[in-house]
Amino acid sequence: MTESKRLFNFSSGPAVLPVPVLERAQKELLCLPGVGASVMEISHRSKEFEPIINGARANIRTLLNIPDSYDILFVQGGALLQFAMIPMNLLTGKTADYVVTGTWSKKALSEAKLLGNTRVTWDGNDTGYRRKPCDDELNITNDSAYVYICSNETIEGVQYQVFPNTGEIPLICDASSDIFCRPIDITKFGLLYACAQKNLGPAGVTVVIIRRDLIERSVNNIPSLLNYKKISEAGSMLNTPPCFAIYIVKLVTDWLLNDIGGLEKMYEINKEKAALIYSVIDDSGEYYKTHADKKFRSIMNIPFRLQSDELDKKFLTEAKEAGLITLSGHRSVGGLRASIYNAMPKEGVITLRNFMLDFAKNNPYNRRG
Ligand SMILES: Cc1ncc(COP(=O)(O)O)c(C=O)c1O
Repeated sequence: MTESKRLFNFSSGPAVLPVPVLERAQKELLCLPGVGASVMEISHRSKEFEPIINGARANIRTLLNIPDSYDILFVQGGALLQFAMIPMNLLTGKTADYVVTGTWSKKALSEAKLLGNTRVTWDGNDTGYRRKPCDDELNITNDSAYVYICSNETIEGVQYQVFPNTGEIPLICDASSDIFCRPIDITKFGLLYACAQKNLGPAGVTVVIIRRDLIERSVNNIPSLLNYKKISEAGSMLNTPPCFAIYIVKLVTDWLLNDIGGLEKMYEINKEKAALIYSVIDDSGEYYKTHADKKFRSIMNIPFRLQSDELDKKFLTEAKEAGLITLSGHRSVGGLRASIYNAMPKEGVITLRNFMLDFAKNNPYNRRG
């Protein structure tokens, strides 16, 4: 019989969800309390679904301390559709500045290029996308429509420690792989968005937090479902929203607020978890190597390599046997990657740490061959 034991899952996304969330969803799968049907079987316009979508919105507002001057939208199409919706709605006739710090911001730029005028205000390509720029390296002009950044490059494992100061120019941020990993000052951003399948819930919904004055910029000659203004006016229900995914976002944000105790606490836990892995890497005498410069290392995604592809493969195989799964790097860069999102328990990180220590001891590189 196939075993159905949960293993420690280091997938970059869709990624691990908190066990209490899965247990609650399992309990309510056949029947939401007092409703007589599951969340997948009721109308999105019913009075039963209302507290779910409103609750998810309210939780997000509380967690990030979002003022009323921002709306919170639930949209579909993943982060990739935001790469297009942002220029479609906000690029109106001007030029947008893109800060290219890795695979995902590069991809966002290439989509925006299809839709309007863009300028690359910084590109880390020359140094292999190992760091984020400082403010004085950014060449932002006063007439820019917006400045686009990716707060955490999931593939390269590079994360902003301090966000750029763009003054009056709206700062737009893809926070898909690090939303809710730490407290942030949302008022620094014109728009911040995240696909759900890393730190928020299952794939299928994307959360867009947008300043209301920017919503007004949306032009009329784009399809309704791509128009922030129309989505906002319809309370994210222009059509049937992904009800189940929104329900899980509600449960995940309940968990962050009630079980974890908010983002300050989550941040402390995340820093501690990341340090457990980075310290093994740093103390390994270059047996393990990370990609990012130390100052810009991500606390969510840790790409690393051993001394050879062969050793990487051996590591993956043995890790899997030890119950540590999905540790391979992105197909574009290879190597290994440990994604340690909010829901990855400390126990999982400690198990990986011990595995890494043992592996290095049992497979000394310079004695090979
Ligand atoms: C930072 C970032 N942006 C965008 C994406 C693309 O997300 P989606 O598959 O929802 O379009 C990902 C997915 O891994 C990501 O990590």
